[in-house]
Amino acid sequence: MASNRLRDLDSATLHPYTNLRKHEQTGPLVAVRGEGVRIFDDAGRSYIDAMAGLWCASLGFSQARLGEAAKRQMTELGFYHQFTHKAHDKGIELAAKLIELAPAGTKMSRVFFANSGSEANDTALKLIWYYNNALGRPDKKKVVARRQAYHGVTLASASITQLPANHRDFDLPLEGGRFLQLTCPQAYHHARPGEDDAAFVDRLAAEFEALIEREGAHTIAAFFAEPVMGAGGVIVPPQGYFPRMQEICRRHDILMVADEVICGFFRTGERWGSESLAFQPDMLTCAKALSAGFLPISALMISDQVYQAVADNSARIGTFGHGYTYSGHPVSAAVALETLALYDELDIKGQVAKTAPVMQAHLSALADHPLVGEVRGTGLIGALELVEDKAARKNFDPARGVAALTVAAMQRHGVIGRAMINDSLAFSPPLIIGEDELSELFGVVRVALDEVSAAL
Ligand SMILES: Cc1ncc(COP(=O)(O)O)c(C=O)c1O
Repeated sequence: MASNRLRDLDSATLHPYTNLRKHEQTGPLVAVRGEGVRIFDDAGRSYIDAMAGLWCASLGFSQARLGEAAKRQMTELGFYHQFTHKAHDKGIELAAKLIELAPAGTKMSRVFFANSGSEANDTALKLIWYYNNALGRPDKKKVVARRQAYHGVTLASASITQLPANHRDFDLPLEGGRFLQLTCPQAYHHARPGEDDAAFVDRLAAEFEALIEREGAHTIAAFFAEPVMGAGGVIVPPQGYFPRMQEICRRHDILMVADEVICGFFRTGERWGSESLAFQPDMLTCAKALSAGFLPISALMISDQVYQAVADNSARIGTFGHGYTYSGHPVSAAVALETLALYDELDIKGQVAKTAPVMQAHLSALADHPLVGEVRGTGLIGALELVEDKAARKNFDPARGVAALTVAAMQRHGVIGRAMINDSLAFSPPLIIGEDELSELFGVVRVALDEVSAAL
């Protein structure tokens, strides 16, 4: 619980993703210190953060090496930029490193830096429109996303996002009919009775084809997809889904954008979620674990085909009129470079290969709990969906807030979780989490589920 002083001062903050009136009553959990996968509040209580903060603190909540990298950079060159033919060493090195690490089979050739996942996706959309104008295709501007997709909250990225709370009363999506939707690839809710994964994928592919037929391929510019949907409830698509969607995109000259803001950097086991899910995007956005969440930085990678058209157009216009003051900020870039070095030194890929099956087994062991309808996940990301009626796969009335009650119970027992759409409890712990910590975490989850189940 926050001290009175901090609780009073907190009334100056407008909290993101919060019921603001409820917050006036409850106040915040005030984090003051981190150690490994735990944070400590101002009363000295410790919590395992099962979400790595916001799916981002891949190396936990304190890392001396990242602090030293930031300090060194602030002392040497605390700010410089990349506008108008300027560069700095850390930005150059980080872009080159990302191109070196780009997913196998892609032809990424340039990196644009921004400060958040939303900005990276906004930039992707602006580039897609710019690219099609450059190619003399002014009608090819629509973008397709899946229901429950999350691509950010700025005006354009929120328009691509397909979660109701991000549109409602914000006058979104933007007008103009450029934002199209497809079915969320969650078999649990959307496969028809008797439909196996292969038949479900066939139907999702046919839906995409029908959309293209209806709208005209000459109007559809891009397909945005998280390899594993995060905020939409941790949705892992069925095997074969992405290769099919990719084949359709290629056939209709539709760019495929992998939103790797959560999946990037080993969350799904491979360095990129698109590698785990077997597709090769034309554009890729990443953020969060790029700097282990320690400083704001995001990146958009584009293929050479996109770059060449954009570069020609910038020459015709006289400039590429886009960029943020903090694009490729040298301190963020230095911390990102150090983060990437730490992933190798700590063998984070090997660590995830060891702990992912342990976490998935903990999740599976909860499948028989009376509240748990579906268990899903891959790598070090997963979810439990809580339902009122297991046989009918029927969710609770959202107004009852069953997942939120469970998260509150988990927090009382020292684990921070997150309730998502359809009463899904998401799990995305720091990638450094150990097996003992996973046991402790899921022990608390079971206790919390039992408490909520008894109280309902
Ligand atoms: C898949 C995905 N894309 C984009 C974003 C937006 O990133 P940011 O909050 O840094 O703007 C998020 C944030 O959680 C995300 O999960």
